[in-house]
Amino acid sequence: MSSEFILKVEDLKTHFTVNKGRQKNVVKAVDGVSFAVRKGETVGLVGESGCGKSTIGRTIMRFNNPTAGKIYLDGDDITTCDMAPYRKKMQMVFQDPYSSLDPRMSVNDIVGEPLDIQFPQMNRKERDERIIEQLKLVGINSEQRSRFPHEFSGGQRQRISIARAMVIKPEFMVLDEPVSALDVSIQAQIINMLMDLQAQMGLAYLFIAHDLAVVRHISQHVVVMYLGHVMEIADAQELYHHPAHPYTRALLSAIPIPDPKTSRTRHREILQGDVPSPINPPKGCPFSTRCRHAIDLCREQPPAMTDLGGGHQVACHRYGEI
Ligand SMILES: Nc1ncnc2c1ncn2[C@@H]1O[C@H](COP(=O)(O)OP(=O)(O)OP(=O)(O)O)[C@@H](O)[C@H]1O
Ligand SMILES: [Mg+2]
Repeated sequence: MSSEFILKVEDLKTHFTVNKGRQKNVVKAVDGVSFAVRKGETVGLVGESGCGKSTIGRTIMRFNNPTAGKIYLDGDDITTCDMAPYRKKMQMVFQDPYSSLDPRMSVNDIVGEPLDIQFPQMNRKERDERIIEQLKLVGINSEQRSRFPHEFSGGQRQRISIARAMVIKPEFMVLDEPVSALDVSIQAQIINMLMDLQAQMGLAYLFIAHDLAVVRHISQHVVVMYLGHVMEIADAQELYHHPAHPYTRALLSAIPIPDPKTSRTRHREILQGDVPSPINPPKGCPFSTRCRHAIDLCREQPPAMTDLGGGHQVACHRYGEI
């Protein structure tokens, strides 16, 4: 069944059981998340460290099994099925380009491996051509194909990881903080390259990052997460200009403004304290322990998602008052 959405997750939960001595604790890493990605678009997924972003990515890829909820890929329910037929459609790029590439494999084999798995009938010549073409698309000279990962810079390695994920021409990619480990100047190059490749190949991205500055440029929609829950979803422009959730406002305040005049007059909401443990989350709104607008209701009851129209949704009891 084909759909307007390449990916849809509904009330997705991923809990982990961890042993602490004789006690068993449940880590509610993802605890009821719903959002969708349209074909050919980029959705940014942001939130502080530990809020469950990578777990969502890994669960969508089914590297982790979900505890509850549904995952649909292009209209097909992939929540519990065998993933082999779906790996061609969906790939993931990981944060750390130093540990995600096998140091004993040449670039040619790293990029060729997914082809060997997904297209075992492909002949040698076709395989080589596809690898060379893909390396060229990510800006790696094909003469460097016989080299090993340690002979490349961090930015080049991330280009190789992207080539590996794209070589089978997927329709959807989970990019888990693909530029966070890189120098700021290299980050912009990689993001621009990802946008060019998306335009050429028409693929959709779920782009994970911990700050809103990085996803601003690349995303059409943004999902803001906190402690395993979605706090706000909006069109990217709408989210930057009219953030509705105090947590989104705080994340936006953390983005540096290059102009000192604007910077001085801007109202800042500084986040204080740490993210609570997902083993023992707050009873009401997950953000209530750090929110300066929190009232008793916020500490008692989790807020429902309010639809503000135009695809803008917010989970805040105090929406409209603050
Ligand atoms: N396999 C696992 N077993 C137990 N707990 C886990 C496992 N994977 C993740 N967690 C926990 O789930 C929570 C969410 O982790 P996750 O890696 O998804 O966060 P994140 O938003 O990607 O953070 P970061 O920005 O640091 O990458 C954390 O508290 C983490 O310790
Ligand atoms: Mg992560």
